[in-house]
Amino acid sequence: SGAEAFEYHYSKHHKAYVDSLNKAVAGTPDESASLEEIILKAEGPLFNNSAQVWNHTFFWNGLSPNGGGAPTGAVADKIGSDFGSYEEFRKQISEAGATQFGSGWAWLVDNGGKLEVVKTANADLPMKHDLKALWTIDVWEHAYYIDYRNARPKFIEVVLDNLVNWDFVNQNLAG
Ligand code: FE2
Repeated sequence: SGAEAFEYHYSKHHKAYVDSLNKAVAGTPDESASLEEIILKAEGPLFNNSAQVWNHTFFWNGLSPNGGGAPTGAVADKIGSDFGSYEEFRKQISEAGATQFGSGWAWLVDNGGKLEVVKTANADLPMKHDLKALWTIDVWEHAYYIDYRNARPKFIEVVLDNLVNWDFVNQNLAG
């Protein structure tokens, strides 16, 4: 079930990144650094674990059990003006997620005032590219394999139709 997949994703994968990060920074100056500070200067395993903690927290915050469908609030107008329509945004983020080779993330970002869709590989994330993240979808296989096997496009469709937390997206746009 969807609940099983999300529980598994949260309790197994997300927790592993958190545990690895805590272990890596224990007893180092990074122990008191913010997650963003670590991400922006880290490389290698420390970057991977810190960025994956940030990415997953951001992903969960961007989901709501009563979400999905057309946007609401200010981001609805912004998507309309910057993409032409919600359908065009939906097409672009679906394609970005489906065509990300291997593991990664598809994002709605604010690029200096203009909304864009980008995709990143593995743990990479918008803040490393001077882009402001507004929403993301996890397209690592562990995000969808239990429910959809290899059907990543179906997973993306279900999330877009049922789970996008537009209030969270609006907070990020305003913040
Ligand atoms: Fe994940």
